[in-house]
Amino acid sequence: MTSETGSTATADTAGPGPAPIRFNPFSAEFRRDPYPLYRQLRQAQPVHRTLGMWVLTRHADVQGVLRDRTFSAGLIPQLISRQANRLAHDNVARIVRLGKKSLVFTDNPDHARLRALVNRVFTAQEIVKLRPRISAVAEQLVAQAWDDGGMDAVADFAALLPVTIMCDWMALPDGLRERVGQWTHDIRFLLEPGLMKAGDFTHVCDVVEEFADALDDVVAQRRSRPGDDLITQLLAAATGGGDTLSDEELVFVCIMCFVAGNETTKSLIGNGLRALLAHPDQGALLHRRPELAKSTVDEALRYDSPLQLTKRLATRDVEIDGKQIRAGEQILLCLGAANRDPAVFSRPDEFDITRDTKGHLAFGYGMHGCLGGLLAQLQAEVAFERLYRRPQRLKLRTEELDWQDHSFIVRGLKHLPVSLEPLPSGSLRPMEGEW
Ligand code: HEM
Repeated sequence: MTSETGSTATADTAGPGPAPIRFNPFSAEFRRDPYPLYRQLRQAQPVHRTLGMWVLTRHADVQGVLRDRTFSAGLIPQLISRQANRLAHDNVARIVRLGKKSLVFTDNPDHARLRALVNRVFTAQEIVKLRPRISAVAEQLVAQAWDDGGMDAVADFAALLPVTIMCDWMALPDGLRERVGQWTHDIRFLLEPGLMKAGDFTHVCDVVEEFADALDDVVAQRRSRPGDDLITQLLAAATGGGDTLSDEELVFVCIMCFVAGNETTKSLIGNGLRALLAHPDQGALLHRRPELAKSTVDEALRYDSPLQLTKRLATRDVEIDGKQIRAGEQILLCLGAANRDPAVFSRPDEFDITRDTKGHLAFGYGMHGCLGGLLAQLQAEVAFERLYRRPQRLKLRTEELDWQDHSFIVRGLKHLPVSLEPLPSGSLRPMEGEW
């Protein structure tokens, strides 16, 4: 096991340095490697005030806020409504409703009601049924992407797997499937509306309108001709009291599945592969023991979390680590920092696919904990198995890695060019299912 910082002094005991800490999540340095800054913050200013918000980096503090239902997730709908009010644009009404009614942005009691309904469908039994399809799509993508001994594991594989699987699960018609990837990319700003300029916002409003109209049609079709798909299952989901999702709520759940599930799953696969390539001992271990694919996924989630940041709004005055936070103030929760907290994970900067990752916060925690975590884990597990259960080893084809810069909350690579090279003879047991 190796630490990428080249240092094993990872415990938060080195003492704060004298220089003031500047938290700038937009800087190139932070994009490349946010972990040294997180470490500094955790040690010296675990409740840090900057950019008009509080920044939390300790596991206990981040988890404490996620657990406490008095913190609101309703900041984003507020920002969306504010942007909408400033614009004279025809298509603002639906995006405002989407903000107010989406699972991820609602507080109780609305959230509890919606979550109880969708939980009936996002069960482990349903997700497991998708494994054969995930394997087949992974196989097909690799076969298509592999060209002259190499492929871009992010653009040609990780980026396509989640959107294909979600379209399959919803059984979307072909004409719609072709457009969903672009729509999902265009409306990614929904999760970070503060980044939108006026032009971006009008475009996002138009795309939400188009996306929702298209899904309205699919929902109407499934009402009259039910199938064996996610939308049909969501239509049928009912509580004991007979409550069901309205058609619009259902359409919003579907849109959020794409928005919340695509970039994150893509980044999980990309970040995990990168970590395996950067730690050849761990890559070799996975080669020898492909049954470790599942725990590799968990360690990838902890070690280089796809969703690094999320926000909450204080609804009451509260003290955290001696700092007074006032009602109405914003709190940025650094999930990626919490997942490297030495108070919870020993040797936190080491990538170790055999470690116990229990307690990681990569899928959040508490009432808003990720709806699609099991699906994302399964896709990454299949992807790692597919790429490591073979008699050659993957090799990175570049020294320079480019991190995406279109989102400030998601950490993921733009590209990951890889090739294959033979393993030293005798270092592997025979493999099956080669491509
Ligand atoms: C590696 C992939 C993924 C990661 C890292 C991830 C991460 C997260 C996190 C951290 C949260 C909590 C956010 C908060 O509390 O503010 C969350 C919530 C959510 N995720 Fe995921 N997610 C992933 C995949 C997916 C997938 C595949 C789907 C869709 C099927 C999905 C749908 C959702 C939804 C709807 C919520 C809101 C749940 C609620 O508020 O009750 N996610 N996710």
